[in-house]
Amino acid sequence: MDKRLALICFILVSFYQFGFSQKKKEVKPGNKFPYFDSNLSIQERVDDLLKKMTLEEKVGQMTQINFTLIKKDSGDMVIDTAKVGALIRKHHIGSFLNGYPATPLQTFKFVDGMQKAAIRNSRLQIPIIYGIDHVHGAAFLKGGSAFPHNINIAATFNPEIAADAGKSTAVETADLGHHWVFSPVLDLGRNPYWSRFYETFGEDPLVTSIMGTSYIKALQAPNNSVPFKQAACAKHFLGYSDPRSGWDRSPAEISDQKLFEFFSPSFQSAFDAGVKTVMINSAEINGVPVHSSYKILTDLLRNRMGFKGVAVTDWEDIIKLYTIHKVAENYKEAVYQAITAGVDMSMTPYDTEFNKHLIELVKEGRISEDRINLSVRRILTLKFDLGLFENPYPRNDRFSKIGSVEIKNKNFLAASESIVLLKNDSILPLSKGVKSILVVGPMANEKIYLGGGWTFSWLGNQEAKYPADMPTLFTAIKSEFNNSTVSYVDSKKISKKELLSYTDKANVIIVAAGEEPYTEGVGNINDLTLNEEQLDLIHKLQETGKPIILILIEGRPRIITKIYDPSKAIIFAGLPGLEGGRAIAKILSGEVNPSGKLPFTYPAFPGHHVPYNHKSSDSAQNDIGKLKYTSIADFGHGLSYTNFSYNNLKLSDTVLSTGKKIIATVEVKNTGSRAGKETVLWFISDEVGSISRPIKELKHFEKREVKPGASYTFSFEISPEKHLSFPNEKGEKMLEPGYFKIQVGKEVKRFYLSKNY
Ligand code: BGC
Repeated sequence: MDKRLALICFILVSFYQFGFSQKKKEVKPGNKFPYFDSNLSIQERVDDLLKKMTLEEKVGQMTQINFTLIKKDSGDMVIDTAKVGALIRKHHIGSFLNGYPATPLQTFKFVDGMQKAAIRNSRLQIPIIYGIDHVHGAAFLKGGSAFPHNINIAATFNPEIAADAGKSTAVETADLGHHWVFSPVLDLGRNPYWSRFYETFGEDPLVTSIMGTSYIKALQAPNNSVPFKQAACAKHFLGYSDPRSGWDRSPAEISDQKLFEFFSPSFQSAFDAGVKTVMINSAEINGVPVHSSYKILTDLLRNRMGFKGVAVTDWEDIIKLYTIHKVAENYKEAVYQAITAGVDMSMTPYDTEFNKHLIELVKEGRISEDRINLSVRRILTLKFDLGLFENPYPRNDRFSKIGSVEIKNKNFLAASESIVLLKNDSILPLSKGVKSILVVGPMANEKIYLGGGWTFSWLGNQEAKYPADMPTLFTAIKSEFNNSTVSYVDSKKISKKELLSYTDKANVIIVAAGEEPYTEGVGNINDLTLNEEQLDLIHKLQETGKPIILILIEGRPRIITKIYDPSKAIIFAGLPGLEGGRAIAKILSGEVNPSGKLPFTYPAFPGHHVPYNHKSSDSAQNDIGKLKYTSIADFGHGLSYTNFSYNNLKLSDTVLSTGKKIIATVEVKNTGSRAGKETVLWFISDEVGSISRPIKELKHFEKREVKPGASYTFSFEISPEKHLSFPNEKGEKMLEPGYFKIQVGKEVKRFYLSKNY
């Protein structure tokens, strides 16, 4: 009996131990299948995992669902693990996205709970990749640092600042399990009507390429937040930003040649820099929605441009193929078209019908399992590459990195360098001893205007969600000019008579005008002109004869031509982020010497917009002659409190051929009395081309500080292949002999590209 009891006990204990260790093995990744072995190559791990997966599990990896489907019904950002479990068990979902401006702790708990529930319920313990729109710093995190928007980052002409924005985002959010950041926008801002203009780096392909890749490399750098890594997302591939009407997600007609010349270089640079993902353009170009375009998503993106990472749809865009674009009869046909075109992951983001249709399509033999494997392989590669199998869970022991002094200082520097002084009739900098300053205008005393869209909420218009210690423009001016009387009046709430009683006492009036925050289609407009109410207010203020300083806080250049001349000074502040108020105030006082330059042409009239790199025949003229002007400020314009002179442009040779290079140099002297940063812009014009050439193209830029009285020799190495060629309609590079001009400041020289290549 004793022996039998002992045997039974032994068997029970062994079973228990076996079961326990089995169970333990299942919940602890790292010791079960070869794909958990980090000594194997990513390819070996993907091969091993892929061959263990069912079709349903594979299709689940291709599905991305919004966070609202896994949060508790009550509470903003509280995870409902039962909902996660159900979605994983039933549909094997591979990715969730987006969020709410939660605290670091709430965010940590949400992602931790999500990931644990996902891994627990996934037969193969595949971690989730979580994506979020931190499009200008960690702007979806309470306490996070909302940087200036990209239009401002571009205005700095300082790639290190773009890198600061990328790195800070990673440092503040990777620990929290935000491994996928849906940024940067690499669309060109060539149509100021487009409501996403402020998300772009402006109208120039080179500036967009350099700023975009600088951000991407910094965000994706492996040491940012060890052991976590982040993936950037180059969006929105391709040709999204120049819709005919200017309305978001409306059709664009862009020739292939123009796509190659203007819209694809920023994406090509991002691919060359190793961006891990792309998001697809929601709209149609040349009659074909991009989500169903094999030509764009496979021929161009993969075969020609060599992108190897994950291509995710934009919001509900497969559904929109049949509901909006009407190129598919129903959802299933839309899935067929999108997957056939080249989509890897569908941001459905509210339904799992996508999975059902895709599984059916494979079972019916219309889509091959090899095609599915291709996408799943890319998605798993991304997950392995980011280290998600080794470190799936976020951490909560480094919150002090969020909103640190170091990041705040970088954010301030970014805002300061991004502000463009458009006009200055010797009024700025304002003397600190000025007696009385009146601050007025709808954008003067709320934080939301400095942040703009995508700041602590989708629309960015919830004042209460902004940090309590963030100054508005008015409060920043008040503390900067603490020896003056600085008053603010809410022009909306008082009569003209009352307003004039305030202006009487003022020595100077600072007017903050611009735009309400908006995001995507919410920002669609019918007229680019600054709204009537604001123009009216500014006219009234100008009639007082007091000096007016106009500050434009806006996501795109709204037309201000009628109020331009009577304003003593005009500042384009764009959307400068959390430190924007302080930065503008310090520019007003002269503590900071402005160094921003416009990364776009500021139009003079609402009817047309002519980017700086337009064709010769695109110059404004009527039947009688040239029209006076089309812009109030050119691309690259931006004043300083000092002056720079450009002298002695030299070329190391005036004849160039393939494989050879010539070096251009120019001396830039700070002729004023204070230090300043100058961006030197090198333009090249091709005098004759078989495809008409832009009148000039930016080919190189460099920014540096020059001390008063000092000179610095800036240089630019010109290579024919890189700087003188242009694509034809097939994307083939053309290099045509003939004369070129190089222009820097007002200095111009001619050189010749010879035939011997
Ligand atoms: C926007 C994308 C964004 C996505 C996820 C879409 O509506 O077009 O830029 O990343 O939503 O929020």
